[in-house]
Amino acid sequence: MRKKTIKDIPNLFGKKVFLTVDFNISLENGHVANDTRIVEAIPTIKYLLSKGAKLIISSHLGRPSGHDPNLTLKPVANRLEQLISKKVNLIDRYWEKSALTKINKVPKGEMVMLENIRYVKEEELNDRNFSKHLASMADYFVNDAFGTAHRVHSSIVGIAEFLPAFAGLLMDKEIRMLSEAIEKPKRPFLLIIGGAKTPEKISVIEKLLDIADNIILGGAIANTFLAAWGFGTGRSVVDYEMVEMARVVFWKTTRKHSALLLPLDVVISDKDRKMKPQVVEYNKVPHHVAIFDIGPKTMKNYQELIREAKTIIWNGPMGLYEDPRFAKGTDSILKHVAESKAFSIIGGGDTLTTIKKEYVEKIDHISTGGGAMLVFLENGTLPGIEVLLDAK
Ligand code: 3PG
Repeated sequence: MRKKTIKDIPNLFGKKVFLTVDFNISLENGHVANDTRIVEAIPTIKYLLSKGAKLIISSHLGRPSGHDPNLTLKPVANRLEQLISKKVNLIDRYWEKSALTKINKVPKGEMVMLENIRYVKEEELNDRNFSKHLASMADYFVNDAFGTAHRVHSSIVGIAEFLPAFAGLLMDKEIRMLSEAIEKPKRPFLLIIGGAKTPEKISVIEKLLDIADNIILGGAIANTFLAAWGFGTGRSVVDYEMVEMARVVFWKTTRKHSALLLPLDVVISDKDRKMKPQVVEYNKVPHHVAIFDIGPKTMKNYQELIREAKTIIWNGPMGLYEDPRFAKGTDSILKHVAESKAFSIIGGGDTLTTIKKEYVEKIDHISTGGGAMLVFLENGTLPGIEVLLDAK
């Protein structure tokens, strides 16, 4: 069944829309450090407002475990106000019935934002009563949060049981772009995987072994594959629980379509990065050092594959790019992907922050999804998308 988008809603004038967005963004000294996810949701917000709808916006920020217990969306609401020149009323204690009166009192032309929904325990439980309560705030449910569509939470999945559900414009674009790349890729199709989160990424690699022509690895996941191959990785970040799985993927590669490529050389330093960075062959990493980037031979090899590719999907950095001494591998991949004529998609929370402005326009699609993009690549759908397919 086809998903419905906000363009399919017949009459929005005077209607209330519960809009789920992914404004889970990094803050620096209490201010928004990267507003990409807010900017990307603006077309949906503007469309709904232009049709005369009243918006109740919901997002999470951080996670209750290990974060500030009072993490507030206030800086996000302020940034949205600046971008859209409309007042955003941040509402707390909205799980109480009395909040409905407060929400209804917000004047026409102003917006409501619910305070950090992940911090309400019923949200993560996808609690049916909580979902029903959220639904009672509005006439329609719109989901524009591709980045959280892999979560089975009340404001993403549960609420759709009680309201007609529609995809926002960003959600629609994310699904179209990623589906185009994996369903009918122009060949050669190159998959570039870096960074950590090895378990999720190994599943994607395994799934795309049949589809991608070349899969190239960098970052912590490449270390795990080097360890699986039996090479010493010294004190590098390796996901030892995934080594066995990496062996299985190697074995499968011999029977599948894709070629799986590992770094030929790597940049090393000691664990504290005090030692001057040095380039060594992939099989000559001393036991007392760690790998922090791909080396020049690898970059050259990967550049050639990028040049030949007609479809490229990239998720995760090639090394510890936060330290400029180890950013060359990631920068080189970014430059060549941006310059290539291939249909290119970049995603992943980490990768998003590495995108230099001059390259942004040269990439066909920069996905706002990190984990969500990986699960979508693996399964071709997400729980938060499935409920939009069942739109009433
Ligand atoms: C993300 O940043 O990738 C999304 O907002 C999902 O966040 P979560 O992993 O905390 O659900």
